[in-house]
Amino acid sequence: MGHPIIAHYMDQWMAVYNETIDMLKRVLQTKNDVFVITGSGTASLEAAVCSIVEPGDKVLVDHPIFGDLVKAHGGIPIEIPVKFGDHIDPSDVERRLEQEKDVKAVAIIHNNTFSAVTNPIHEIGKVVYDFGPLFIIDAISSLGGIEIKTDEWHVDIVCSAGQKALAIPPGIAPTSVSAKAWEVMEKRKEPIHSKYLNLLEYKNPPIDRERKWHPTPFTPSTVLFRALWQSLKDLLQEGMENVYRRHAIAAEAAREGFKAMGLELLVKDERYASNTVTAVLWPHGYDHARFWRILYDEFNIMIGNPPEHQPMPDRKIFRMAHMGNTATPECILMGLSYIERALNMVNFNTKGGEGVAAAQRVFLHKGLKVRGSP
Ligand SMILES: Cc1ncc(COP(=O)(O)O)c(C=O)c1O
Repeated sequence: MGHPIIAHYMDQWMAVYNETIDMLKRVLQTKNDVFVITGSGTASLEAAVCSIVEPGDKVLVDHPIFGDLVKAHGGIPIEIPVKFGDHIDPSDVERRLEQEKDVKAVAIIHNNTFSAVTNPIHEIGKVVYDFGPLFIIDAISSLGGIEIKTDEWHVDIVCSAGQKALAIPPGIAPTSVSAKAWEVMEKRKEPIHSKYLNLLEYKNPPIDRERKWHPTPFTPSTVLFRALWQSLKDLLQEGMENVYRRHAIAAEAAREGFKAMGLELLVKDERYASNTVTAVLWPHGYDHARFWRILYDEFNIMIGNPPEHQPMPDRKIFRMAHMGNTATPECILMGLSYIERALNMVNFNTKGGEGVAAAQRVFLHKGLKVRGSP
């Protein structure tokens, strides 16, 4: 990112652009078209929704993140019932698709960052494919940390962002689009009611319709693009299998660590526990606000869900991220040890070091070394 800024067109740029897109296709396991929208993850979600949804179109959604966008573009969101902390049951998707005959798209979150649950996209994708609507997923906190088999899982539009497991600063949003999704956009009755987020603009940028020398419709953030290039290079060099394994082990170590401290996880079925973030139920009767502040003010550690932002009315939670370069023994062990200290400081007594010891056992058993150790 510190390199001199280059122009967003002509040869030097095309080399960076094409290589980045090729690497994204490898990570997304897709032959579909891939773009990078300048904006946070919501830009990608809104691009998908506004390009597909026309007034009156029904869209099956699992979360207001999609529901609000569908409403904003005149569509009708139909909710898939899912309790906070649970995964989406593919049979609920099937039931809804049977009830509602003319659903245009199913739009759901792959890795629900808020509840730290990963949905079984492979199973849901099969159901959606059999019924025929488009399948849109929010892969904002999965891309780069949890495997996405875009083509095999029949995902028509993958929406993501750079600032989560890709570990770059916020501001760009990788997005993939299938041939089936292009067809739906091209056959719309009404034109797409957006300029900046109209995916057809990305397919054929007006300045250079073939994407040969000026590949984007607008000026992209070339600085963030280069950060993405570097991030993808690093991931592919590590090997995607190793990357996903590292995230899975880090997540397991975090869960075992919390449980050993006597805490309860939000997720009830650990098969659906996220590999990029873990949510913990706050124990009754202890001062959560003080705990959070001790970590933030005294230990310089920010965990998710500050006292100001609690998603459940009756129970507090906190979350630990383990994505990108925080999915490592160094970060997990250090994070757990300070969390345990802060717990003790609000009189939630643990056995002392049990959380770190349990996490260490996972790392040792699974053979994930602290970087640089022999
Ligand atoms: C699953 C998920 N979807 C959507 C968003 C919103 O993304 P952004 O803030 O990048 O627009 C987030 C952000 O945390 C997220 O975790």
